[in-house]
Amino acid sequence: MAVHSTHRDGVLVVALDNPPVNALSPDVLVDLVAALDAGEADPSVRAFVLAGRNGIFSGGADIRWFGKTPPAGTPFLPEVIARIEASPKPFVAAIEGTAFGGGLEIALACDRRLASPRAKVALPEINLGLLPGAGGTQRLPRATGSAAALRFILSGAPVEADDALRLGIVDGVESGDLLEAACAQAAALEARSRLSGRSATAEPDAFVAARAQLPAIEQGGLAAHRCADAVEAATKLPFEQGLARERELFLELLSSEQSKSRIHVFFAQREAAKVPDVPADTPVADVRTVCVVGAGTMGTGIAMALANGGLQVRVVEASGDVLARGRALIEKNYAASARKGRFSEAAVAERLGRMHFGTDLTVAADADLVIEAVFEELDIKREVFGRLETICRPDAILATNTSTLDIDAIATDSARAGDIVGLHFFSPANVMKLLEIVRGTHTSARAVATSLAKTIAKIPVVARTCDGFIANRMLAPYGRETMQLVEEGAWPQDVDRVMERFGFPMGPFRMFDLAGLDVGWRIRKRRLAEGKLSAVRDSEIGDRLCELGRYGQKTGAGIYRYDDGRTPQPDPEVEALIVAESARLGIERRPMSDDEILNRCMLALINEGAKALEDGTAIRPGDCDIAWIYGFGFPAYRGGPMHYADTLGLSRVRDDLFALSERHGAHWRPAPLIERLAARGGRFADLGAYEAKAPAWT
Ligand code: 3HC
Ligand code: NAI
Repeated sequence: MAVHSTHRDGVLVVALDNPPVNALSPDVLVDLVAALDAGEADPSVRAFVLAGRNGIFSGGADIRWFGKTPPAGTPFLPEVIARIEASPKPFVAAIEGTAFGGGLEIALACDRRLASPRAKVALPEINLGLLPGAGGTQRLPRATGSAAALRFILSGAPVEADDALRLGIVDGVESGDLLEAACAQAAALEARSRLSGRSATAEPDAFVAARAQLPAIEQGGLAAHRCADAVEAATKLPFEQGLARERELFLELLSSEQSKSRIHVFFAQREAAKVPDVPADTPVADVRTVCVVGAGTMGTGIAMALANGGLQVRVVEASGDVLARGRALIEKNYAASARKGRFSEAAVAERLGRMHFGTDLTVAADADLVIEAVFEELDIKREVFGRLETICRPDAILATNTSTLDIDAIATDSARAGDIVGLHFFSPANVMKLLEIVRGTHTSARAVATSLAKTIAKIPVVARTCDGFIANRMLAPYGRETMQLVEEGAWPQDVDRVMERFGFPMGPFRMFDLAGLDVGWRIRKRRLAEGKLSAVRDSEIGDRLCELGRYGQKTGAGIYRYDDGRTPQPDPEVEALIVAESARLGIERRPMSDDEILNRCMLALINEGAKALEDGTAIRPGDCDIAWIYGFGFPAYRGGPMHYADTLGLSRVRDDLFALSERHGAHWRPAPLIERLAARGGRFADLGAYEAKAPAWT
């Protein structure tokens, strides 16, 4: 049974039980209606209390069923809610833990809502490109006023019990026995008191102001606009007509590409934390204390990310001066966060209180995890790991934040290669959500499972060690292509405009300027010195700019000029340099359409993602999507590069890649995986974990 009923002094307690989150699956809905029928027919039942087992009220509608036909006879969630509302007997919702989406909508159909102090409520449908489609947009404005309801629904974010009480979403917070209090209140209710019987406040200004802030419909804002339309309907239409309007808008969203993409992201993110050969019951280290080695750009950001997650952090630098600089940077960053209201002063003090700074690596002796973030030099890193091996506890996990080095090379000669793992954070590490967990040949399941545990509050993706892992490996051909487009006739600002309109928060050239053009320049110089040039020609535009001291935003000029330090402005000097470079290469510059720019950038990403799947670097296509959404700001409403490829259709992707290979060279040939999938009308979405790995095809 997915629902359990128990009698308590004339009250029927109906508890949802569908672990882990009591999602409102067909089973739950069928059992819930049966419980309501039984309770209504039973004269000894005066009232109902709706509750949830598993420490949660409900995570909402079962997302896995969206777009599918449920088994015959399954009631529809809005019908179940209408059933609750139509009942002659009163209802109290006892909200323990989370009441999200359809879960909260069920509670809103009850006469009263009582929450435990730890409860959280949200209507997060907007994060799935949807709107609350089971009455939430009509009932909530009648409880909180329409302006507050609009803010709540547009943010999609959870609200704690006390705030929910203040807003009028719940009627009480019970710190004692929640069920007992809910039963007592239900028994005392004389008559029904339905939100549908109230009216919603008009507040038209709130709608004008909110709409002005929303992203455009085609730029990921479809759900937000429809949420506003639905809440506004509550202020203008009678309840039943408002519900009908909500339904109509919900169905429009459900069939939209934006919603399908976001739902894909929801599941891909959770899938990414599952690794086939690292079973869920793999023992993990209990990580409480982390030592971060190196207090440069990354070390300081990582230290903040860890302290924000509640961990004790020891920051170790080579010299006292650099350490002091790193510490000052952290303090400045936190002070800015406090000024912006992101953290309270007390929260900042708490975080700083969890950090210790020093120059003696032996403080790593009691660390559960060490994260090395020293210079990107193999010898230096190996030296640090050599010392860590003698200092650290035998059960400590030893991680490197390297972005380009081979984990196996760092672990060579190590007696503890199993404990060594890559933890690749993205800059700024206290802001960017992605964490690539990089496995070397010998990395143990324990090291991977520990890195995956939610102690490091990041979104993880697991990669095998290779040049660039997943995210940067895909960045390489994308970056190369943006430069190629510029050599052929586009201007950097054209490429940025196209990619920003596509949905990236920042076009590639602005991003390169922000990251520093010198990073790539140094890598290319090193490769040249080592005789390891890439098979595909790299543009020299970045090198020319660096030779002029134009490293990007940090030097006030790169691809753009930054007269005020932050606003990119196209620079005639750079345009002249680009024209000269085109001439040197014998390229006759030509106008470049927006479609060509977009297509070539996307195809570069998709083809490399497919290659990363084929050689087993990435486990599944969704992992490439998550890496690019959370590492580089690929728009979530387009689902990530591999999902986007599926929406284009893989036969079109294959044909376009062949066409490009004829014009621009063999490096454009489609990955065999794309050819094979296209030949059978397949999609990336059909591939399970490691199913794309080449041996599976032979
Ligand atoms: N439907 C189906 N599965 C769900 C689900 C849902 N609503 N919510 C969570 N799950 C699944 C996850 O996929 C995951 O499955 P897995 O173990 O197989 O990977 C499992 O439950 C646990 O989820 P989390 O790892 O996210 O667990 P947490 O404890 O960290 O978080 C949560 C729990 C806060 C409920 C979080 O899962 C969440 O935010 N869920 C989504 C809530 C949501 O968007 N609800 C709205 C649904 S749409 C709706 O209700 C439409 C209605 O208006 C008509
Ligand atoms: P950085 O140069 O800003 O910082 C490195 C710090 O390590 C310096 O402060 C240096 O004094 C310190 N250091 C050097 N040897 C040391 C030792 N033996 N003991 C203690 N401290 C030592 O470099 P950054 O950018 O922070 O990079 C660090 C690592 O992170 C590199 O491996 C880099 O590839 C990687 N990385 C960098 C990203 C970026 O965007 N900057 C992104 C992701 C990874």
